Amino acid sequence: MSDEVVVTVFGTRPELVKLCMVIEEMDRRFDNHVIVHTDQHYDYDMDQLFMEELEIRAPDHRLSQRSENPVEQLGAMISQLSHVYGEVKPDVVVVLGDTNSTLAGALAAKKSGVLLSHIEAGCRSHDKTMPEEQNRVVVDHISDILFAPSRIGVENLRDEGITGPSVHLVGSTLIDVCRRNLEIARSKSKVDLPERYALVTIHRAANIQDRNRLQAILDSVEIISESIPVVFPVHPHTSKMMKRWQMTPASEGLKICPPLGYLDFLKALAGAEFVLTDSGGVQQEAQVLGVPILTARKETEWVETVECGGCRLVDADAEAIIQNSLRIINDDEFRASFSRRGSPYSETEVSKKIAEILFESLQWRGTVKS
Ligand code: UD1
Ligand code: UDP
Repeated sequence: MSDEVVVTVFGTRPELVKLCMVIEEMDRRFDNHVIVHTDQHYDYDMDQLFMEELEIRAPDHRLSQRSENPVEQLGAMISQLSHVYGEVKPDVVVVLGDTNSTLAGALAAKKSGVLLSHIEAGCRSHDKTMPEEQNRVVVDHISDILFAPSRIGVENLRDEGITGPSVHLVGSTLIDVCRRNLEIARSKSKVDLPERYALVTIHRAANIQDRNRLQAILDSVEIISESIPVVFPVHPHTSKMMKRWQMTPASEGLKICPPLGYLDFLKALAGAEFVLTDSGGVQQEAQVLGVPILTARKETEWVETVECGGCRLVDADAEAIIQNSLRIINDDEFRASFSRRGSPYSETEVSKKIAEILFESLQWRGTVKS
């Protein structure tokens, strides 16, 4: 234990999932571990439900901002975080991933002269129009201690000139969370699922803010649901865009529902014939669970899932989505080809490693007051 102040910032559904074990380990390692929720996600089923299921303690600070405009949202988060940092005086700020909360936590730290650590460093889709790519590139380039989830992440950082002892290859924190909760989900979840089904999640800005792309995905899902039941928990952002454009896909086999809690979702994912998704987290979890993945994007930052054959990129191309879906359902050989080469995610105790390395790095830098 030590008395330096560590602040961990988060605010969205994937950050809650990916950080739950990191928070536990930081609490164990550091006497003064302060957790801050930015309020980016706030609906019960995008936020509090996850805090309860994943047993995350109540945040020490919660920001108060609800702007629909990403620039105002970012500005408000940075400004409020700088006040929190001013109050708690962190020795290091920890952020994860690529959301606006990640960027705000990082910028506020560097502008306050605080050491910054980034978990999930080095992920690149190489598409700079993507808000998440902009966020992760900026955060990596201003971070002092970086935790990469894969060898590819380390190589991406190296290609951008970020090398040396500040870069640590630790693996992905999500994998431990997924493995820890799978049996709990199977025994506790009461989610009502068809016997055989496909699972769909769509929320990426490029897919839902472009009317043609969203329409193509929803049309495909409707067609697939004539061959296999489809479970489609709808992200609030997607729901908003579907309402705006009055898109109401419907068929007997299509089960549209609000976002699922983590345990229900994990059970649903583990039992699915395949998943059609544009989520980064879902892509990784499906890979671990051996569920074939159709990713509705042109590229992915989780390149290893494509390299090992577990994931096919189908973009928002109706023909590619439908043809691949039908082949998975009807052609056992094709379906088996997704899992033939196994999973690239074999790491364990990633969160524990991160807390240990952070502790040692602070000591080495002379930040720890021993
Ligand atoms: C954000 C992240 C994305 C991540 C996703 C995880 C950014 C730029 N994007 O996208 O990387 O994959 O979270 O789910 O940070 N809304 C609600 N209730 C909520 C949350 C959002 O109604 O609890 C609606 C609001 O209208 C809001 C809109 O969704 O304006 C967009 O929310 P925002 O957090 O900005 O982006 P996401 O699409 O959720
Ligand atoms: N998830 C969930 N319920 C859902 C959809 C997703 O619990 O209805 C979980 C999923 O298991 C994964 C995380 O949310 O752990 C991924 O978050 P999201 O897809 O919102 O964001 P991304 O990973 O794309 O940033």
